[in-house]
Amino acid sequence: MNLQQENNNKQETRVRVWDIPIRLFHWILVSCFIIAWLTLDNRYLDIHIFVGYLMGGLILFRILWGFIGGPYVRFRDFSFNWSEVKDYLKGVLNKCPPRFLGHNPAGSWAIYLLLGLGLSITVTGLLAFGGEERQGPLAGLLNYPQGRLAHELHEWLAWLMLGIVIIHLIGVLVESLLHRENLVAAMLTGFKLSDAGEISTASHWKIGVIMLVIIITAGLSWFQGHLTETPEQLYQPFHGPALPDNSLWREECGACHMAFHPSLLPARSWKSMMEQQASHFEEDLYLEQDTVKKIEAFLIENAAEQGLTEAAWKINRSIAKTEILLRITETGYWIKKHQEISDAVWEHPKVNGKVNCAACHMDAEAGTFEDAAMHLPDDVEHK
Ligand code: HEC
Ligand code: HEC
Repeated sequence: MNLQQENNNKQETRVRVWDIPIRLFHWILVSCFIIAWLTLDNRYLDIHIFVGYLMGGLILFRILWGFIGGPYVRFRDFSFNWSEVKDYLKGVLNKCPPRFLGHNPAGSWAIYLLLGLGLSITVTGLLAFGGEERQGPLAGLLNYPQGRLAHELHEWLAWLMLGIVIIHLIGVLVESLLHRENLVAAMLTGFKLSDAGEISTASHWKIGVIMLVIIITAGLSWFQGHLTETPEQLYQPFHGPALPDNSLWREECGACHMAFHPSLLPARSWKSMMEQQASHFEEDLYLEQDTVKKIEAFLIENAAEQGLTEAAWKINRSIAKTEILLRITETGYWIKKHQEISDAVWEHPKVNGKVNCAACHMDAEAGTFEDAAMHLPDDVEHK
């Protein structure tokens, strides 16, 4: 059968199949997907997170549009029926699949899978961002190791989505060849040729304009911090929720040095340190028994084992289970993170020793030790 000849015999009309919102959805989603893969490095985390939000928002819109949108894009207008998919794929193997103006049955499956995966990727991304970085709407919901698990799931799902995207692209290519029509162009212009008297969908351009306004406004407000950034007011520092705090601990343990957050050492270290409070690094803390108990309870409750932050989790993993260290600065993780800093830096008057964490970490008092809050004092050269 020669489709081309058959088509030429009949009167063909241009039918608008894809309205403006669906085309915007499609191409912006494509861009988000590509940008997300290009911004895996933590340096571009803010871009990655932004396209993640955008992708989640677009998919929610697409689901809504699947219920209230025009013909061809409504879920009830494209099949989910497996036997139709089989018939369609048989048609493909025989090189004459039936033509669908909207989504064909195999394409429909790809779309449901892509929507489901996109949504799961957004959710696991938010969980990882909340657990590992303590940021975003789900900040602090998971601790660091749980956030890492979500991160791993997030990556697996992204690979799966890449697989489905490739299958989708092969499907588009095959159908374009078999029906001799340019499906990519149709997704750009919205139009396809039809001789079966099918109706055009409305362009819904107003909704398209609203989408663009929302996306551009969101982008401008998200990235405007780059323009207003100063050394004191960092663009993307540590706006996660505060770690557990305690006024008695802050007062007693912050008298001689900064109060080191409990999450920086394991419980056994704190227990031992409080037992030896009368000979604390050659100092006597002169604490009442009652005070010791209260501070110890707070320290143990939020110790490194709880994995409240990335640093906590990594510090804990860097110490042998039998070892009872009293110094954060002697833990494997701390040493590894600071090994490139020279003696000249430690002795610099503005740094004044390893124990003075706050000289270089703007969030040292808060205990979070975020990457973005690391800031060597002016005129101190790193290395
Ligand atoms: C009387 C002063 C004083 C008070 C109060 C005090 N410390 Fe210390 N602390 C020291 C000194 C001195 C050092 C050793 C500092 C150095 O090596 O530069 C030290 C070191 C530490 C270190 C090790 C830092 C490192 O990683 O090298 C920890 C942890 C610590 N203190 C916890 C506490 C806790 C918890 C409390 C409250 C119960 C407390 N300190 C109260 C004087 C004090
Ligand atoms: C001389 C400045 C300086 C001082 C003082 C200092 N640090 Fe750091 N710290 C750094 C630098 C630089 C890095 C970044 C290393 C890197 O990028 O891998 C770092 C990294 C870290 C990290 C890892 C953060 C991350 O996510 O990569 C932790 C946790 C940390 N420091 C804790 C501490 C603690 C606790 C103290 C005090 C006991 C301290 N630091 C004192 C300079 C300092």
